[in-house]
Amino acid sequence: MNIFVLTGAGISAESGLGTFRERGGLWSRFDPARLATPEAFAADAEEVHAFYNLRRQGVRAAAPNAAHRALARLQKELAGRGGRLFLCTQNVDDLHERGGAAAVMHMHGEILRARCLACTAATPWAEDLSVATPCPSCGRAGGMRPDVVWFGEVPLHLDAIEAGLAESDLFVAIGTSGAVYPAAGFVARARRLGLPTHEINLDPSDTADAFHTAAYGPATETVPAWVEGVLAGPRPR
Ligand code: APR
Repeated sequence: MNIFVLTGAGISAESGLGTFRERGGLWSRFDPARLATPEAFAADAEEVHAFYNLRRQGVRAAAPNAAHRALARLQKELAGRGGRLFLCTQNVDDLHERGGAAAVMHMHGEILRARCLACTAATPWAEDLSVATPCPSCGRAGGMRPDVVWFGEVPLHLDAIEAGLAESDLFVAIGTSGAVYPAAGFVARARRLGLPTHEINLDPSDTADAFHTAAYGPATETVPAWVEGVLAGPRPR
């Protein structure tokens, strides 16, 4: 059996990383137009760097939680049964990987990588970035940016995501509000492909009506319970 899982900020919430659109969420405290667009970076790179430096430090201080670990277990168990877990995340943190998952499709990029605008080289990057930071590949300063996908930029891995959906028997969304496309459209794509669809979230998302089934509650409880059910039963919920 192949399962396609899409995750959002909610799966990392109990690891202490904030979500975006809930009360007190990141976008209620910071203006994404001033911090998460190419135009914002061109206008004031240092302000954008300061915002991502704080987020990068938060990711480094966070630890994967039971939900991340449960998905990693599911990935290994499915592989052992000749199946696959396609794991796609909107999150830029590395908690899926630190929780034991592999081949994670980061469709919004990764905050622990930096990319040079001058030579396009991408580099693992855990430290603070500034306008003065020289590119480790070409040596030029002024062009290093967080290797994340900003609003108005094209998400990554879209071909691999489409291929994964087409090869899957079930689509599950975990911890996402369903507010941002193209990710929010994956459930409709899955339904057109004839897949059963399941939502796991703290509360119903903007696309809740598109899912055949759902389980609501904190991901550290609902995700391990769902994985147990999948691994114990002949068919996932
Ligand atoms: N367990 C499960 N779900 C949770 C938890 C939790 N402990 N805490 C919050 N949630 C749910 C919320 O109910 C909400 O529906 O996680 C969801 C988070 O929604 P958003 O903050 O909108 O985050 P996300 O859906 O990942 O945003 C998508 O928007 O700004 C862009 O690039 C950014 O990747 C992000 C994208």
